[in-house]
Amino acid sequence: MRLVRSVAELRIAVKALREQGLRIGFVPTMGFLHEGHASLIRQCASRCDATVVSIFVNPTQFSPNEDLAKYPQDLEADQSLCLKLGVSLLFLPEAQEMYPSNFQTFIEPGRVAEPLCGKYRPGHFRGVATVVAKLFNMVQPDLAFFGQKDLQQTAVIKRMVRDLNLPVDIAVVPTMREPDGLAMSSRNVYLGPEERKRALSISLALFSAESAFKSGERGAARLLSLALECLWGVDELQYCELVDASSLEPVVGLVDRTVAICVAAFVGSTRLIDNLILSPNPEAQGILSVGPD
Ligand code: PAJ
Repeated sequence: MRLVRSVAELRIAVKALREQGLRIGFVPTMGFLHEGHASLIRQCASRCDATVVSIFVNPTQFSPNEDLAKYPQDLEADQSLCLKLGVSLLFLPEAQEMYPSNFQTFIEPGRVAEPLCGKYRPGHFRGVATVVAKLFNMVQPDLAFFGQKDLQQTAVIKRMVRDLNLPVDIAVVPTMREPDGLAMSSRNVYLGPEERKRALSISLALFSAESAFKSGERGAARLLSLALECLWGVDELQYCELVDASSLEPVVGLVDRTVAICVAAFVGSTRLIDNLILSPNPEAQGILSVGPD
Protein backbone atom coordinates (compact mmCIF):
# COMPACT_ATOMS: atom_id res chain seq x y z
CA MET A 1 0.00 0.00 0.00
CA ARG A 2 1.30 3.43 -0.96
CA LEU A 3 0.68 6.43 1.22
CA VAL A 4 0.45 9.75 -0.62
CA ARG A 5 -0.10 13.22 0.73
CA SER A 6 0.18 15.59 -2.20
CA VAL A 7 -2.03 15.85 -5.29
CA ALA A 8 1.09 15.73 -7.52
CA GLU A 9 2.22 12.41 -5.97
CA LEU A 10 -1.31 11.06 -6.22
CA ARG A 11 -1.58 11.91 -9.92
CA ILE A 12 1.69 10.10 -10.67
CA ALA A 13 0.61 7.02 -8.69
CA VAL A 14 -2.85 6.93 -10.30
CA LYS A 15 -1.34 7.39 -13.77
CA ALA A 16 0.88 4.36 -13.17
CA LEU A 17 -2.17 2.25 -12.19
CA ARG A 18 -4.07 3.46 -15.22
CA GLU A 19 -1.17 2.68 -17.55
CA GLN A 20 -1.40 -0.90 -16.37
CA GLY A 21 -4.99 -0.86 -17.61
CA LEU A 22 -6.42 -1.23 -14.09
CA ARG A 23 -10.00 -0.32 -13.19
CA ILE A 24 -9.73 2.17 -10.32
CA GLY A 25 -12.18 2.20 -7.42
CA PHE A 26 -12.38 5.00 -4.85
CA VAL A 27 -13.69 5.20 -1.27
CA PRO A 28 -13.68 8.74 0.16
CA THR A 29 -13.75 8.90 3.98
CA MET A 30 -13.08 11.18 6.92
CA GLY A 31 -11.14 8.43 8.73
CA PHE A 32 -11.62 6.77 12.14
CA LEU A 33 -12.54 3.79 10.02
CA HIS A 34 -14.99 1.14 11.22
CA GLU A 35 -16.68 -1.91 9.70
CA GLY A 36 -19.02 0.34 7.67
CA HIS A 37 -16.03 1.86 5.88
CA ALA A 38 -14.46 -1.61 5.65
CA SER A 39 -17.51 -2.94 3.82
CA LEU A 40 -17.18 -0.14 1.24
CA ILE A 41 -13.48 -0.94 0.81
CA ARG A 42 -14.23 -4.69 0.46
CA GLN A 43 -16.89 -4.00 -2.18
CA CYS A 44 -14.46 -1.73 -3.98
CA ALA A 45 -11.71 -4.35 -3.90
CA SER A 46 -14.08 -6.99 -5.24
CA ARG A 47 -15.30 -4.84 -8.13
CA CYS A 48 -12.14 -2.96 -9.10
CA ASP A 49 -8.49 -3.82 -9.77
CA ALA A 50 -7.03 -1.06 -7.58
CA THR A 51 -8.58 0.61 -4.53
CA VAL A 52 -7.88 4.21 -3.57
CA VAL A 53 -9.04 5.38 -0.12
CA SER A 54 -8.89 9.01 0.98
CA ILE A 55 -8.98 10.29 4.55
CA PHE A 56 -9.76 13.96 4.89
CA VAL A 57 -11.84 15.65 7.57
CA ASN A 58 -13.45 18.20 5.29
CA PRO A 59 -13.90 21.56 7.04
CA THR A 60 -16.40 22.94 4.51
CA GLN A 61 -19.07 20.38 5.43
CA PHE A 62 -19.05 21.34 9.12
CA SER A 63 -20.78 24.46 10.34
CA PRO A 64 -19.05 26.60 13.01
CA ASN A 65 -21.10 25.04 15.86
CA GLU A 66 -20.36 21.44 14.76
CA ASP A 67 -17.73 18.92 15.82
CA LEU A 68 -14.91 19.54 13.30
CA ALA A 69 -12.22 20.25 15.92
CA LYS A 70 -13.03 17.16 17.97
CA TYR A 71 -13.76 14.81 15.05
CA PRO A 72 -12.18 11.46 16.11
CA GLN A 73 -8.92 10.41 14.46
CA ASP A 74 -6.70 7.32 14.58
CA LEU A 75 -4.44 7.34 11.57
CA GLU A 76 -2.39 4.36 12.68
CA ALA A 77 -5.43 2.09 13.05
CA ASP A 78 -6.85 3.40 9.75
CA GLN A 79 -3.59 2.64 7.97
CA SER A 80 -3.40 -0.91 9.24
CA LEU A 81 -7.05 -1.58 8.34
CA CYS A 82 -6.45 -0.27 4.80
CA LEU A 83 -3.32 -2.40 4.50
CA LYS A 84 -5.23 -5.48 5.67
CA LEU A 85 -8.02 -4.82 3.17
CA GLY A 86 -5.63 -4.60 0.23
CA VAL A 87 -5.89 -0.86 -0.47
CA SER A 88 -3.43 0.20 -3.21
CA LEU A 89 -3.25 3.91 -2.44
CA LEU A 90 -4.09 5.75 0.76
CA PHE A 91 -4.50 9.45 0.02
CA LEU A 92 -4.13 11.83 2.97
CA PRO A 93 -4.44 15.32 1.52
CA GLU A 94 -3.40 18.35 3.54
CA ALA A 95 -6.06 20.97 4.33
CA GLN A 96 -3.74 23.62 2.90
CA GLU A 97 -3.66 21.91 -0.49
CA MET A 98 -7.39 21.08 -0.54
CA TYR A 99 -8.38 24.61 0.43
CA PRO A 100 -5.55 27.03 -0.35
CA SER A 101 -6.06 30.57 0.85
CA ASN A 102 -8.49 32.48 -1.33
CA PHE A 103 -10.36 29.27 -2.30
CA GLN A 104 -13.72 30.47 -3.64
CA THR A 105 -15.36 27.95 -5.97
CA PHE A 106 -18.10 25.65 -4.64
CA ILE A 107 -20.59 23.12 -6.02
CA GLU A 108 -24.14 24.17 -5.14
CA PRO A 109 -26.45 21.15 -4.94
CA GLY A 110 -30.10 21.72 -5.80
CA ARG A 111 -33.43 20.59 -4.33
CA VAL A 112 -32.13 17.18 -3.32
CA ALA A 113 -30.01 18.86 -0.62
CA GLU A 114 -32.92 20.83 0.85
CA PRO A 115 -35.05 18.38 2.92
CA LEU A 116 -33.98 16.12 5.83
CA CYS A 117 -30.41 16.95 6.94
CA GLY A 118 -30.33 19.92 4.55
CA LYS A 119 -32.83 21.73 6.79
CA TYR A 120 -30.71 21.28 9.89
CA ARG A 121 -27.20 21.52 8.44
CA PRO A 122 -27.24 24.50 6.07
CA GLY A 123 -24.25 24.37 3.71
CA HIS A 124 -23.36 20.80 4.66
CA PHE A 125 -24.08 19.22 1.27
CA ARG A 126 -22.45 22.14 -0.53
CA GLY A 127 -19.27 21.25 1.36
CA VAL A 128 -19.70 17.51 0.68
CA ALA A 129 -20.36 18.01 -3.04
CA THR A 130 -17.41 20.37 -3.37
CA VAL A 131 -14.89 18.10 -1.66
CA VAL A 132 -16.16 14.97 -3.45
CA ALA A 133 -15.94 16.75 -6.84
CA LYS A 134 -12.37 17.81 -5.99
CA LEU A 135 -11.45 14.29 -4.90
CA PHE A 136 -12.99 12.84 -8.08
CA ASN A 137 -10.89 15.24 -10.15
CA MET A 138 -7.76 14.23 -8.26
CA VAL A 139 -8.28 10.45 -8.21
CA GLN A 140 -10.27 10.14 -11.48
CA PRO A 141 -11.80 6.81 -10.42
CA ASP A 142 -13.92 4.57 -12.62
CA LEU A 143 -16.22 3.68 -9.74
CA ALA A 144 -16.74 5.37 -6.33
CA PHE A 145 -18.39 3.85 -3.26
CA PHE A 146 -20.74 5.52 -0.77
CA GLY A 147 -22.77 4.15 2.16
CA GLN A 148 -26.56 4.01 2.32
CA LYS A 149 -26.15 5.16 5.93
CA ASP A 150 -25.78 8.68 4.49
CA LEU A 151 -28.73 8.35 2.14
CA GLN A 152 -29.10 12.02 1.25
CA GLN A 153 -25.36 12.27 0.60
CA THR A 154 -25.62 9.46 -1.98
CA ALA A 155 -28.55 11.26 -3.66
CA VAL A 156 -26.60 14.56 -3.76
CA ILE A 157 -23.51 12.86 -5.22
CA LYS A 158 -25.49 10.91 -7.83
CA ARG A 159 -27.30 14.09 -8.86
CA MET A 160 -24.00 16.00 -9.12
CA VAL A 161 -22.38 13.25 -11.20
CA ARG A 162 -25.32 13.26 -13.57
CA ASP A 163 -25.81 17.02 -13.77
CA LEU A 164 -22.11 17.76 -14.29
CA ASN A 165 -21.35 14.72 -16.52
CA LEU A 166 -18.60 13.53 -14.20
CA PRO A 167 -17.01 10.39 -15.70
CA VAL A 168 -17.50 8.12 -12.68
CA ASP A 169 -20.05 5.48 -11.65
CA ILE A 170 -21.49 5.55 -8.13
CA ALA A 171 -22.10 2.41 -6.08
CA VAL A 172 -24.19 2.50 -2.90
CA VAL A 173 -23.36 -0.03 -0.18
CA PRO A 174 -25.88 -1.16 2.50
CA THR A 175 -25.54 0.13 6.07
CA MET A 176 -23.37 -1.93 8.43
CA ARG A 177 -24.82 -2.27 11.91
CA GLU A 178 -23.58 -3.27 15.35
CA PRO A 179 -24.92 -6.69 16.43
CA ASP A 180 -27.79 -4.97 18.30
CA GLY A 181 -28.79 -2.91 15.24
CA LEU A 182 -27.21 0.52 15.86
CA ALA A 183 -25.85 1.87 12.57
CA MET A 184 -22.06 2.05 12.73
CA SER A 185 -20.72 5.59 12.75
CA SER A 186 -17.44 7.28 13.66
CA ARG A 187 -19.52 9.44 16.01
CA ASN A 188 -20.71 6.44 18.10
CA VAL A 189 -17.51 6.79 20.20
CA TYR A 190 -18.94 9.98 21.68
CA LEU A 191 -21.80 8.03 23.30
CA GLY A 192 -21.52 7.23 27.01
CA PRO A 193 -22.81 3.77 28.11
CA GLU A 194 -26.24 5.07 29.04
CA GLU A 195 -26.51 7.11 25.82
CA ARG A 196 -25.39 4.08 23.80
CA LYS A 197 -28.43 2.17 25.12
CA ARG A 198 -30.78 5.02 24.30
CA ALA A 199 -29.26 5.43 20.81
CA LEU A 200 -30.60 1.97 20.01
CA SER A 201 -34.12 3.37 19.92
CA ILE A 202 -33.32 4.91 16.51
CA SER A 203 -32.72 1.59 14.71
CA LEU A 204 -35.55 -0.04 16.71
CA ALA A 205 -37.92 2.66 15.45
CA LEU A 206 -36.91 1.95 11.85
CA PHE A 207 -37.20 -1.82 12.33
CA SER A 208 -40.65 -1.39 13.86
CA ALA A 209 -41.90 0.53 10.80
CA GLU A 210 -40.20 -2.00 8.53
CA SER A 211 -41.85 -4.95 10.20
CA ALA A 212 -45.31 -3.33 9.94
CA PHE A 213 -44.57 -2.56 6.28
CA LYS A 214 -43.59 -6.18 5.64
CA SER A 215 -46.88 -7.26 7.25
CA GLY A 216 -48.77 -5.12 4.73
CA GLU A 217 -49.17 -1.74 6.45
CA ARG A 218 -49.07 0.94 3.73
CA GLY A 219 -50.33 4.03 5.56
CA ALA A 220 -47.49 6.57 5.70
CA ALA A 221 -48.89 8.22 8.85
CA ARG A 222 -49.31 4.85 10.61
CA LEU A 223 -45.76 3.74 9.70
CA LEU A 224 -44.36 7.02 11.02
CA SER A 225 -46.35 6.85 14.24
CA LEU A 226 -45.08 3.31 14.87
CA ALA A 227 -41.52 4.59 14.46
CA LEU A 228 -42.15 7.63 16.65
CA GLU A 229 -43.47 5.43 19.48
CA CYS A 230 -40.03 3.78 19.68
CA LEU A 231 -38.03 6.99 19.68
CA TRP A 232 -38.30 7.41 23.46
CA GLY A 233 -34.51 7.24 23.90
CA VAL A 234 -33.47 10.32 21.95
CA ASP A 235 -33.03 13.75 23.52
CA GLU A 236 -33.95 15.81 20.48
CA LEU A 237 -35.62 14.47 17.36
CA GLN A 238 -34.76 16.51 14.27
CA TYR A 239 -36.82 14.47 11.83
CA CYS A 240 -38.51 11.13 11.30
CA GLU A 241 -39.81 11.15 7.74
CA LEU A 242 -40.99 8.88 4.95
CA VAL A 243 -39.61 10.10 1.64
CA ASP A 244 -39.48 8.94 -1.95
CA ALA A 245 -36.20 6.99 -2.18
CA SER A 246 -35.15 8.78 -5.38
CA SER A 247 -36.32 12.37 -5.05
CA LEU A 248 -36.32 12.46 -1.21
CA GLU A 249 -39.66 14.29 -1.36
CA PRO A 250 -42.12 13.48 1.46
CA VAL A 251 -44.59 10.64 0.88
CA VAL A 252 -48.10 11.06 2.28
CA GLY A 253 -51.15 8.81 2.13
CA LEU A 254 -50.40 5.31 0.90
CA VAL A 255 -46.92 4.02 0.18
CA ASP A 256 -47.08 2.78 -3.42
CA ARG A 257 -43.39 3.02 -4.37
CA THR A 258 -39.94 2.54 -2.88
CA VAL A 259 -39.54 4.88 0.07
CA ALA A 260 -36.94 5.56 2.73
CA ILE A 261 -37.76 6.08 6.37
CA CYS A 262 -35.15 8.48 7.71
CA VAL A 263 -34.31 9.64 11.23
CA ALA A 264 -31.93 12.26 12.62
CA ALA A 265 -31.73 12.80 16.36
CA PHE A 266 -29.45 13.92 19.14
CA VAL A 267 -28.58 11.52 21.93
CA GLY A 268 -26.81 13.71 24.47
CA SER A 269 -24.70 16.01 22.30
CA THR A 270 -24.17 13.40 19.57
CA ARG A 271 -26.14 13.73 16.35
CA LEU A 272 -27.05 10.37 14.82
CA ILE A 273 -28.76 9.53 11.52
CA ASP A 274 -30.16 6.29 10.15
CA ASN A 275 -32.58 5.08 7.47
CA LEU A 276 -34.16 1.99 5.94
CA ILE A 277 -35.52 1.40 2.46
CA LEU A 278 -39.08 0.06 2.23
CA SER A 279 -40.22 -1.24 -1.11
CA PRO A 280 -43.66 -2.57 -2.06
CA ASN A 281 -41.77 -4.93 -4.39
CA PRO A 282 -40.54 -7.65 -1.98
CA GLU A 283 -37.50 -8.37 -4.14
CA ALA A 284 -36.32 -4.78 -3.86
CA GLN A 285 -36.99 -4.59 -0.10
CA GLY A 286 -33.97 -3.07 1.65
CA ILE A 287 -32.09 -2.65 -1.62
CA LEU A 288 -31.21 0.85 -2.55
CA SER A 289 -31.35 2.58 -5.86
CA VAL A 290 -31.40 6.14 -4.65
CA GLY A 291 -31.29 9.26 -6.78
CA PRO A 292 -31.03 9.41 -10.54
CA ASP A 293 -29.39 6.33 -12.04
P1 PAJ B 1 -17.48 9.31 6.49
O1 PAJ B 1 -18.51 9.68 7.49
O2 PAJ B 1 -16.10 8.93 6.96
O3 PAJ B 1 -18.04 8.13 5.63
C1 PAJ B 1 -17.33 7.62 4.54
C2 PAJ B 1 -18.25 6.67 3.79
O4 PAJ B 1 -18.57 5.57 4.64
C3 PAJ B 1 -19.57 7.32 3.38
O5 PAJ B 1 -19.92 6.94 2.06
C4 PAJ B 1 -20.54 6.77 4.42
O6 PAJ B 1 -21.88 6.70 3.95
C5 PAJ B 1 -19.98 5.38 4.63
N1 PAJ B 1 -20.45 4.81 5.91
C6 PAJ B 1 -20.40 5.38 7.14
N2 PAJ B 1 -20.99 4.57 8.05
C7 PAJ B 1 -21.42 3.47 7.38
C8 PAJ B 1 -22.10 2.29 7.76
N3 PAJ B 1 -22.47 2.05 9.03
N4 PAJ B 1 -22.37 1.37 6.80
C9 PAJ B 1 -22.01 1.60 5.49
N5 PAJ B 1 -21.34 2.70 5.08
C10 PAJ B 1 -21.06 3.63 6.01
O7 PAJ B 1 -19.35 10.51 4.51
C11 PAJ B 1 -18.28 11.05 4.68
O8 PAJ B 1 -17.27 10.52 5.44
C12 PAJ B 1 -17.93 12.39 4.04
O9 PAJ B 1 -19.09 13.15 3.90
C13 PAJ B 1 -17.20 12.26 2.67
C14 PAJ B 1 -18.07 11.54 1.63
C15 PAJ B 1 -15.86 11.54 2.84
C16 PAJ B 1 -16.89 13.68 2.11
O10 PAJ B 1 -16.12 14.40 3.01
